[in-house]
Amino acid sequence: MAAIRMSEVTVWRWVAAEERRAVLLSGVDWTVERGEHWVVLGPNGAGKTTLLNLAAAFSHPSEGRVEVLGERLGAVDMRKLRESIGTVEPGLARRIRGRYTGYEVVLTGATGSIALLHDRIEDDDRARADRLIGEIGVEPLRERRFEDCSQGERQRLLLARGLMDEPSLLLLDEPTSGLDLPSRERLIASLDTMAEANADLPTVIVTHHLEEIPATTTHALLLRDGTIVAAGPIAEVLTSDAVSTTFDIAVDVAHNAGRWAAMVVRTP
Ligand SMILES: Nc1ncnc2c1ncn2[C@@H]1O[C@H](COP(=O)(O)OP(=O)(O)O)[C@@H](O)[C@H]1O
Ligand SMILES: [Mg+2]
Repeated sequence: MAAIRMSEVTVWRWVAAEERRAVLLSGVDWTVERGEHWVVLGPNGAGKTTLLNLAAAFSHPSEGRVEVLGERLGAVDMRKLRESIGTVEPGLARRIRGRYTGYEVVLTGATGSIALLHDRIEDDDRARADRLIGEIGVEPLRERRFEDCSQGERQRLLLARGLMDEPSLLLLDEPTSGLDLPSRERLIASLDTMAEANADLPTVIVTHHLEEIPATTTHALLLRDGTIVAAGPIAEVLTSDAVSTTFDIAVDVAHNAGRWAAMVVRTP
């Protein structure tokens, strides 16, 4: 069973003010298998979040077929399906109560809610939260108020939170956005540790910077204007040509010690 299987997927929205359809995704074929760690790359507005929202069982395709963890969207209780999917999405940090400690933030993931539902938390959950806090390396944040954590610290707590409910699929939408270099590197290190500790867990990370791709990433999908430029094993996909086409700017792609970088060779 694939973790995600999309075939001929199109997503469009009606833009009433302009009396036209906006096509957000078109002709998307994509399969994510167990144990694969994907990065989705593309410029702003390429459709990355739209793609992730389908994989997260947050929305339906307009046309085509989407299966997540073997369940077809449209023929399944989306809420039930979402219990098996861990997500870290932009804006999540803002919705969580600042008074919660790091430990409590992680614990909210046990019930898939942003509030701490004490009567539904069990001893197993507390033990798992402690284990994840160790695994992700956020012990110093355990008793710190969420509102006192830096943006990077919050993202790492949210990563641990996303793993709380023993997900069968983990999706992260721009987890590194807005972080300074050391914070970004600490989060990437946590993502690598997480991937190593959960070797079978399929993951998808959205970003628009090659420099933010964790070394444990196995596959890449390049998205431009709602269509796939290339998708497959990362070393085959991240060529200078394909990345230049995706971002519409000539770049040289470099690969060094598992990490990636794009250098602009000619400004448009
Ligand atoms: N409800 C909507 N109606 C019309 N256009 C939308 C709607 N939601 C998103 N879009 C547009 O679809 C495109 C893709 O959006 P999105 O998936 O958020 O891109 P990304 O995450 O890659 O930046 C963007 O150009 C965005 O403006
Ligand atoms: Mg987005």
